[in-house]
Amino acid sequence: MDERKPFIAANWKMHKTREEGVRFVEALQREVGVVEDREVVIAPPFTALAAVRAVMKKPGFKLAAQNCHFEEKGAYTGEVSAIMLKDVGCDYVILGHSERRHLFGETDDMIRRKLGVVFQQSLVPILCVGEVLEEREAGRTFSVIRGQLEQGTVNLAPDHLKELVIAYEPVWAIGTGKTATPVQAQEVHAFIREHLSSLYDKVVANNIRILYGGSVKPDNVDALMGEPDIDGLLVGGASLEVTSFKRIVQYQT
Ligand code: 13P
Repeated sequence: MDERKPFIAANWKMHKTREEGVRFVEALQREVGVVEDREVVIAPPFTALAAVRAVMKKPGFKLAAQNCHFEEKGAYTGEVSAIMLKDVGCDYVILGHSERRHLFGETDDMIRRKLGVVFQQSLVPILCVGEVLEEREAGRTFSVIRGQLEQGTVNLAPDHLKELVIAYEPVWAIGTGKTATPVQAQEVHAFIREHLSSLYDKVVANNIRILYGGSVKPDNVDALMGEPDIDGLLVGGASLEVTSFKRIVQYQT
């Protein structure tokens, strides 16, 4: 059943100029060599997308944007559309990252509309979901995730749905050094797959890759990737240095 190709993604957030991004990707490709059994995805800031794309030479290396607007075009000063991301050579778009939800007020409805425009451009969304600490402590983790999943994926065609990538990023683990334990992460990943299976169907749910994000480091990557429902990682801080990200790409289970 398991055809889910491992997916290791670097989310650079608001870091790196074009030159820094290019140097990183050239070095990573040189050091990692050919990657056949996993996808390596780099999400630079908008300003570095084209430059990074231009030096991505190896198969297995893919480009992601960190966000996009929910309309195709229009008077939206400062925004970037899915059409523009397609034009610059993106493969994936991260949507609903917790920093977008919590710092920039993105709602489930906005995220749902973004998924639609991204799929229209034949790009693949990486839909982020995750609970804050108070929600976890109040025993509301599953209900929060269920709401984000249902509202984000409502109306998606089955063909689109099975391509979707989901990232579980507990907000309390992002940039805090507090990783969810592999058991905690697996519990939520299994819940997500189970819930997708009840909402849609088992085949679709078994195809969807579910990534974990939140203080992933070289020393916890192998244990996280050893869990059956963790299909990849979305890495922030540890993706900014070639040495640490290379070790994460080369995880072993
Ligand atoms: P950190 O790896 O820095 O905790 O960030 C995780 C994240 O938000 C990836 O999208």
